[in-house]
Amino acid sequence: MMPIIEDVPWWKTGVIYQIYPRSFYDANGDGIGDLQGIIRKLDYLQWLGIQAIWISPIYPSPMADFGYDVSDYTGIDPMFGTLADFDRLVEEAHAKGIKVLLDFVPNHTSDHHPWFIESKHSKASPKRDWYIWHDGKPDGSAPNNWKSVFGGDAWEWDAQTQQYYYHGFLKEQPDLNWRNPAVKEAMYDAMRFWLDKGIDGFRVDVMWHLIKDDQLRDNPPNPDYTDSQPTYNQLLPVYSTDQPEVHAIVAEMRKVVDAYQARVIIGEIYLPIQQLMAYYGPQNDGAHMPFNFLLLNLPWHASEISAAIDQYEGALPADGWPNWVLGNHDRPRLTSRIGEHQARVAAILLLTLRGTPTLYYGDEIGMHDVPIPVEEIQDPQGINMPDKDLSRDPCRTPMQWSDQPHAGFSEATPWLRVDKKYARLNVEAQRNNPFSMLSLYRKLIHLRNREPALNQGTYTPVSSNDQLIAYRRDSPLGDSFLIILNLTSRPCRYRQTEPFLKGKIVISTAPELENTPIAPNIYLGGDEGIVIRLEEGADNTF
Ligand code: GLC
Repeated sequence: MMPIIEDVPWWKTGVIYQIYPRSFYDANGDGIGDLQGIIRKLDYLQWLGIQAIWISPIYPSPMADFGYDVSDYTGIDPMFGTLADFDRLVEEAHAKGIKVLLDFVPNHTSDHHPWFIESKHSKASPKRDWYIWHDGKPDGSAPNNWKSVFGGDAWEWDAQTQQYYYHGFLKEQPDLNWRNPAVKEAMYDAMRFWLDKGIDGFRVDVMWHLIKDDQLRDNPPNPDYTDSQPTYNQLLPVYSTDQPEVHAIVAEMRKVVDAYQARVIIGEIYLPIQQLMAYYGPQNDGAHMPFNFLLLNLPWHASEISAAIDQYEGALPADGWPNWVLGNHDRPRLTSRIGEHQARVAAILLLTLRGTPTLYYGDEIGMHDVPIPVEEIQDPQGINMPDKDLSRDPCRTPMQWSDQPHAGFSEATPWLRVDKKYARLNVEAQRNNPFSMLSLYRKLIHLRNREPALNQGTYTPVSSNDQLIAYRRDSPLGDSFLIILNLTSRPCRYRQTEPFLKGKIVISTAPELENTPIAPNIYLGGDEGIVIRLEEGADNTF
């Protein structure tokens, strides 16, 4: 049993694990992962020590954006299984103490959704106003200059009804009109459908896009745009995203979820810190956790990272619970961004900071971005902007379970190629190797689960410079940890200031260091990180 300081909600103390279902495990041999596949790997997830899984979309979908184009909010795509499979997954996960979060995609539907088909049918359709339709300008051009995240204009002309519709993403993903109360009700009903099935909450897709300027004003140009960026960045999306009215919608979603016991809403929001914080809601009545993507975006420099952590901690509203993310299905993998060695240091950071960590499948074994030849690219973002190297396929490749063909992911050729290094980079090879990335992750997760200082305690920055970051985690019960991370590959020295603390290293990127007592001078090798359990009581100093 985890020691409990007070009645703390599960989503504050545990680790969330993101599953990209197409790539997790294929139980039916068609080369695409499925729900039965997840069920089969629940033992692994339990062994790893995670608290909850968030599953990327599994609803019926034409898969133009691999499930983020939903054509039925209350079903399961046959590719992934059936509703009965889903019920079994929830039941078996819960029996193992694992919570289940679904990915909710409220900003847009698929263009195959019956609502859109009806909406598109005629201007008089009762569902016309469920989407964002608008006349063109007098010269026939689009209503404004807004761009699609996935390249090109955000307005698509419909010749039949002679109007444009808005799509912030693909043209196959028309945006819903969240100013229409009927849309809201339909979406809240969809949420209730899954909550009634016993799921533990939602990750809400592109929460900051939900509502747009009611006058559809032009977005201003971005003075910092460079050609290597997505064309979307040519403009600052000040009128198409993060509108003041979004917070009332988030609060309504929160009410839907709060009508049930112990559920959670996590918002996907890419915004600067101050704007992000608003998504907690003025009374903490917004999203329980707006995803914090700081560590995904910042250069991997000790002083920058440590300043960002402190800035984030400082900006949190009273009672706002922090969270941290190092990878997801939209961003390059950690090892490919900062290197294999630093990825181990990053694992310590993720799992010892204050706040809920979200771990992307495969990061626990150090999976890499896999180069995908241009003719095999599947991701529409990659296909639409071929010269910008923006495909998200490299971080979505099949999980590497073993050295069996296709990395033990499937008996068939997988939908996306497997990393050629899979024979040595896989779960089975790492499971019993105390020096592996997987062993490091597992130790960190289990330590975090056991120690209130780590899963609930305070965070105090101690020191940082160009090479290292040091901070303390303290629990009101008296336990304390000092974490020192070297974010470079050169050795460094951490000089304690008086009074010198005593303690022992409990986890390190170099397991050889474990159980070593610390001295006033602490020497770290390059790419080394250590977690020190400080000695208890008043005499814990030299
Ligand atoms: C979110 C998802 C991404 C998807 C987009 C459109 O950013 O994480 O994968 O393509 O929304 O739904």
